[in-house]
Amino acid sequence: MNLWVYPGRPLQGEVRLPGDKSISHRAALFAAMAQGNSHVENFLEAGVTRVLIDNLRSLGVQLELNRAILTVKGEGYRAFQPPAQVLGCGNSGTTLRLLTGALAAAGIPAVLDGSAGLRRRPMMRIVRPLRSMGVQIETARGGTAPLRLSARAAERPLRALRYSLPVASAQVKTALLLAALAADGPTTLSEPGPSRDHSERMLAKMGVDIRVSAAGSSGQGSTCTLRPPTATLRPVELRIPGDFSSAAFLLVAALITPGSELIIRDVGLNPTRTGILEALRKMGAEIHIDRQSAQFGEPYGDLIVRHSRLRGGRVDGALVVRMIDEFPVFGVAAAYSEGRSTVLDAGELRFKESDRIATLTHELAALGARVRQSSTGFTIEGRGALDGGSVDSHGDHRLAMALAVAGLASDEPVCVRGAEMMRESFPGFLDQLRKLGAEMSMETGIDSEGSSGNGDTP
Ligand code: S3P
Repeated sequence: MNLWVYPGRPLQGEVRLPGDKSISHRAALFAAMAQGNSHVENFLEAGVTRVLIDNLRSLGVQLELNRAILTVKGEGYRAFQPPAQVLGCGNSGTTLRLLTGALAAAGIPAVLDGSAGLRRRPMMRIVRPLRSMGVQIETARGGTAPLRLSARAAERPLRALRYSLPVASAQVKTALLLAALAADGPTTLSEPGPSRDHSERMLAKMGVDIRVSAAGSSGQGSTCTLRPPTATLRPVELRIPGDFSSAAFLLVAALITPGSELIIRDVGLNPTRTGILEALRKMGAEIHIDRQSAQFGEPYGDLIVRHSRLRGGRVDGALVVRMIDEFPVFGVAAAYSEGRSTVLDAGELRFKESDRIATLTHELAALGARVRQSSTGFTIEGRGALDGGSVDSHGDHRLAMALAVAGLASDEPVCVRGAEMMRESFPGFLDQLRKLGAEMSMETGIDSEGSSGNGDTP
C-alpha cells in the first residue's frame, strides 16, 4: 500500500492512544502465567500483540479479547500445554523473546518462529544465558529463529543465574527474569544501560520479590535480583496507559508542522521510555506534562505540545537506551531542525525491525536531507525543511510512521511505500492524524496485503 501525505495542514485537537505495546505484551503473558482472573483495559490490539494472544491460546490459556479489554483465566505457567503447532511470532521480537523465557520456566517442548525479518534478528543474546540456566534450546544456523525448546522434567528447577547483559535490552532481561521464576535460587542480572523496566514493576505488583538497584560505573545501568516465588503469581488488574512510543510520532508531527497544538491524554510516562522528551526539549521543543498519576506501578499523564522552532541536538550514552524505539521519528525532527544533530552509541538500531541506521538515513536522504551514517549512529545537517518525494518502509512499522510524519511539513508531498506496516504497533495512526487535520490518501497496489487487518480506513 502506498500512502500519500500532503503537507501544510496544522494539527489541532485532543487524542487518546492505544495501549502501550510493551505493557500489553507483559500484561497478556504475565496474566497467563499467574493464578486467577486478570482484567486488562486499553490492551493494544495490533499485529505484534495478536501473535502473542494466538500463541497463548495454543498453550491452552483461556483468554478473551474484546474491544481492547483482555480477560485471562490464569492457571499458572506450569499448566501450559505443549503446543501442537509452531508458535508463529510474526514480526514481533518481544513475543519471541519473552515467550521463550516463559516456556523455559514451564519446561515444555515448543518451536518458535517468525517472519523473514524476525528470522534475521539475533537470538543468541537470550539463548546463551538460558543454556547456562540448564534450558535445552536450539537455534537455526547463525543463532536465529526458529528456536526449538526441549521438555524438562516437572520437578527439575532451572539453575539460578548471575549474568551481565552485554547490551541493555528489556527483551533479554525479561526473558531471563521469566525463566528465573523456575530457578533453584535468586537470579541477579546487571545491564549497562537503563532498559525499560515494565517487567520489574509488573512482577513486583504480582507478588514477586524483585529488587532493583542502580549500578554500573556510569551510574546509568542497573542490577536486579529476583527470588523464585514460593506462592503463585497474583493476577493483573490494570488500565494500560497510551503508548509513549506512539505519542512520539504525534509529538514530532506537531513540533514540525506550523500552527499545530495537541493534547495527548493518559500517555505512559515511565522514565525508562521518555528519553526523546529530554532530547527534543533540549532542541527547543515546547512540550508540557499535565495531570500525572500512576497505575499498577506505571506513571502516566497528559502531553501538551506546540509547533516549535527546533535546533540540532546530540543523543548518546544512556539517553539512547531510553529512546531506543524513537530514532526514526527523531531523525525526522532532526531534519526539520536548524543545524547539526548527532546520534552516537546507538549500534543496537541495526538489530531492530530493520537496520534503522541504514534504512532511516537512506530514506531521509531520498527526501532531501543531508545525512551521514556511522557504525553506531548518524549525523543530520538540519535545514528546517525537507523536499518530499517517494520513500520505502523496509517492512518496518516505525520507519513507515516516521516517514509519514515527515510529509506533514515537507515542500512537496511524501509517498510512503509499504505503509500497511503501520498497523503492527499503532492501529488507527492515520485515522488519528486525519482527525487532527492532516491530509492523506491511500493507493492500494499489487503488494497491498496488510499483515493485519484492523485500524486505519483507506
Ligand atoms: C521492548 C524492548 C526493546 C524495544 C522493543 C520492545 C520490550 O527491545 O526496542 O520495541 O517490550 O521489551 P530490546 O530489548 O531489543 O532493546
